This record gives sequence, structure tokens and C-alpha cells, in this order.
Amino acid sequence: MSHSESTWDRLHRWERFHRLFEPVDFRRWKRASQKHLRTLFPASGLRVLDATAGLGDHSVNLAELGFVVTAGDASEVAREATTEAARAAGVTIEVADLRWETVGRVRPLAYDLVFHDALHWIERPDTMQEVLRSLRATLRPKGALVFFFADPRDASPGAGERVRQWDLAHLPRLERLWQHPWQGGTVTHEVMRLPSGDAIDERHAFSIDREDATSEMQEATLRRIYRWDFHAMQEACGAAGFASVEGHVFDNDKGLPTSMCLARV
Ligand SMILES: C[S@@+](CC[C@H](N)C(=O)[O-])C[C@H]1O[C@@H](n2cnc3c(N)ncnc32)[C@H](O)[C@@H]1O
Repeated sequence: MSHSESTWDRLHRWERFHRLFEPVDFRRWKRASQKHLRTLFPASGLRVLDATAGLGDHSVNLAELGFVVTAGDASEVAREATTEAARAAGVTIEVADLRWETVGRVRPLAYDLVFHDALHWIERPDTMQEVLRSLRATLRPKGALVFFFADPRDASPGAGERVRQWDLAHLPRLERLWQHPWQGGTVTHEVMRLPSGDAIDERHAFSIDREDATSEMQEATLRRIYRWDFHAMQEACGAAGFASVEGHVFDNDKGLPTSMCLARV
């Protein structure tokens, strides 16, 4: 394996491997927000940029709901997976290497909606501004940026830090996520969660134990950022030129209330 493999490429590659063993229909499980978006935007021909395509679950769901979809992602593994997912589902999706920071420059006024499920992973406030301004510039007049984590049910300052405290108290420090057979041996995926300032670092380890008793460990660290709650996102979106931020709460496929936010151009 190349040493230059990015964090997301590595995580997506192992997630694709894991799904070979999982009977769960991930697309179905994740579709509530896309269905809710369709009820808010029922017109035909609407162009959506899924700016965080990942393995393509949301992109395919959005295309099946009748949106005209571009799936953007910086990860090559994600783009490959999304291309295959679209082919398997029989939907047409443009898959492109589009970066959050520059899409507004390379595709100005191109989309009615930007669907983004990872804005809250951005660490630095200046990067958040750069990304929000870029995403706003790729939207058409009357368009909207769709994002998550920010919960309108707690719009007071400090809501994100309260979620972090809950996570610290309830999420296991060390968790085995899966173990599968591989090439005569096994691969085990474990995650260690460590507090780091106002974030939590998730250290993912993929331990490969081979038949011949040799082993290898591949690691990838994701930093969970908690500052982008509803209050903070209202301020950040306003500073980036969005006219308003609205929160929606609806039931997901398990019947549990879940939230989604829209920043209007
Ligand atoms: C949370 S994952 C997406 C998960 C996916 N939506 C799903 O449901 O499985 C975030 C994605 O954003 C991509 N990404 C991270 N930074 C990016 C950037 N600056 N521009 C474009 N894509 C980026 C990563 O490669 C990763 O696939």
C-alpha cells in the first residue's frame, strides 16, 4: 500500500471491504434527509452537488429521487466507488474531483442545492469561511446549502460542546468495529477515541493478521470537531453572505427525530 494514501482514501477502501460482509442496505438506511429535501424542493430538473460523495450513498439516493446530481469528492477511492454505485443502481450521475474550497471558482452559479454532510469536520474558522464562500458561489440565486450536525433544537451557544461532553461520557474509548477474514488471515478494525482540546480524535486501526503469522497495521485519524453547532453556523453562514439559516427536524428511517439545516443564498 502506498504511503501517500490519504486518510479518506484509506477509510473508504476499508469501508468498501467491510461492506462485502455486511447485509445492511446502507443507502436505504441513510436516505431520510434526501427524501425530506425532495419534499422541500419538489421541482423537476433541480441540479444538486453532493459535495461529500463518499461511497455514493447519498448521490445515488438523490438521483433516484429525480435530482440532477453531480457527485464531488477529493478522494479517488470515493469517486471510483460512487461511479460503481451509480452504475449498479442504473442512475446517471456526474462524478468529479471537486474541492469545497475552489468549486465556487471553477463552477460558479452551477447548482440549485449543495448537499454537504461534512461541514462540521472543518477545524479552522478561516477554512470554514473559505469553504462557505466557495459553496455559496457555486449556488444559483434562490439556491441553498444543506448541512448537518447543527441542531436547531438547541440554538444556544455551547450546544456543540454539550454534544462533545455527552460523547466523552457515552462513547467507548476503545471499540472493535469489525473483524473479517482476508487472504487466509483476518483484518480487524478498531477505533480509539481520545480527547484533544475541544475535539475528539478518532484513531482508526486496521490490523492485518496473515496466515503465515506476519502482521501489519494501517492507521487513519479523524478529528471530530464540535464547534459548528446551530448558533455558530448561523454566524458563519451570515459572515459568508448567506441570507438565512433554517433548521428542519424530521423522522429518520428508524422513526427517530433527526435534523438538517439549509443556508439560503
Ligand atoms: C464524511 S465523508 C462523506 C460520507 C458520505 N457522504 C457518506 O454518506 O458515506 C467526507 C468526504 O469528504 C471528502 N472531502 C474531504 N475534504 C474535502 C475537500 N476539501 N473537498 C472535497 N472533498 C473533500 C472526503 O474525501 C470524504 O469522502
